[in-house]
Amino acid sequence: MSIDEHLDPIPDSFILQPPVFHPVIPYGTTIFGGLYAGKMVMLQGVVPLHAQRFQVDFQCGCCLHPRPDIAFHFNPRFYTVKPHVICNTLQGGLWQKEVRWPGVALQRGAGFLVLFLFDNEEVKVSVNGQHFLHYRYRLPLSRVDTLAISGDILVKAVGFLNINPFVEGSQEYPVGYEVPCSRALPRGLWPGQVIVVRGLVLKEPKDFTLSLRDGATHVPVTLRASFTDRTLAWVSSWGRKKLISAPFLFHPQRFFEVLLLCQEGRLKLALNGQGLGTTSLDQKSLEQLRELRISGSVHLYCVHC
Ligand code: GAL
Repeated sequence: MSIDEHLDPIPDSFILQPPVFHPVIPYGTTIFGGLYAGKMVMLQGVVPLHAQRFQVDFQCGCCLHPRPDIAFHFNPRFYTVKPHVICNTLQGGLWQKEVRWPGVALQRGAGFLVLFLFDNEEVKVSVNGQHFLHYRYRLPLSRVDTLAISGDILVKAVGFLNINPFVEGSQEYPVGYEVPCSRALPRGLWPGQVIVVRGLVLKEPKDFTLSLRDGATHVPVTLRASFTDRTLAWVSSWGRKKLISAPFLFHPQRFFEVLLLCQEGRLKLALNGQGLGTTSLDQKSLEQLRELRISGSVHLYCVHC
């Protein structure tokens, strides 16, 4: 394969966000291209016989701490005589006024198909082909980028669809960035600051490198994924490598999300929403960082710092 083919930034629309089958619960995924009027999310599953509750959360981000805002919390509850659904929004860690929808067609022990249809002002939900509820947005839909499913539910499939099939693809692709990609960190990194990098791993990848450099072009810390030996490691300025012991979560032609949270004297890492520990770096070095640089076999969709 030629280099040009290798760097083709526009992936096949099928590959962009394929349906997910039988995910392990709790499950979280980035919604690529985000949510906008005309997009649908399909959820097919079974309610276990002894289910108490489950929830489908359309969230603004995927980090675990602090808890992300949830624009739409869809929460069927089965522990009352008649199952019902609670809908709500979580903002700044606080639940708002909940809305209760009785008479849901979901039943313990039964399969179901739920469609979430995102409109301009509200989301409409149908259960087994029947319109069931609508919920007016309390947070901008454009902030939603993550779907999280948890609780007592067996998920068979999750799909992402456009109502109008002719726009398929075009809106789906956020503007991408070529690598190497560099971002200035004019004031260094301070506790509470977050770096988010989202992208797609290319076909036949070799490596992925995210380095943090200071004004004197020293590189106090680098995060490096090697596809040849399937390892993820922190590399210090002296070239000392500290392997991160976790399943290797980068896959060819799959999306990834790296989140770095700066804390006093350390950086906390999450990959695809899973916490992968921290690396220590004295606070002074963090404050002296001036550049974030990303290179390797990836195409980037979001670099936020
Ligand atoms: C709370 C519950 C949360 C969430 C919320 C929705 O009582 O603990 O998990 O469902 O209600 O309003």
